[in-house]
Amino acid sequence: MKFLVINGVNLNLTGKREQGVYGTQTLEQINAELAAFCASQGDSADFYQSNIEGELVNKLHEAFLGKTHDAVILNAGAFTHYSYALRDAIAAIDIPVAEVHMSNVHAREEFRKTSVLSEVCKGVICGFGKHSYMAAICALKGGK
Ligand code: DQA
Repeated sequence: MKFLVINGVNLNLTGKREQGVYGTQTLEQINAELAAFCASQGDSADFYQSNIEGELVNKLHEAFLGKTHDAVILNAGAFTHYSYALRDAIAAIDIPVAEVHMSNVHAREEFRKTSVLSEVCKGVICGFGKHSYMAAICALKGGK
């Protein structure tokens, strides 16, 4: 399968910000591990990160219109909690999207317990650090 891993706002600072919550590995290091994980199973992954909501929407449209990928793994960061634009973009495309979070959003502040994306995603995985992404890849493969 061809996966598209999309990270949203502030995820470029992974490994540098709030290390107690998100760990010390950078996003680049995590992505390299994900790429190797996919390759070891005969799959491939492309990676995209943006802090700009509209660019994330554009990337989802691009994947849909260009038929470039079989599934999307999306960590939208804080956009998860309020972006109806991202929600509509996920609903608009016919590619399965897995919502992931490195931290357990249900064990943190109240506002993180709300996701406006979950309803339109195929599934949600949170709380396993970088392994949330890997679990999503396995789940999307199994669910196909
Ligand atoms: C996050 C959780 C969000 O609440 C937060 O805004 C993030 C990262 C996670 O991966 O745990 O930026 O999506």
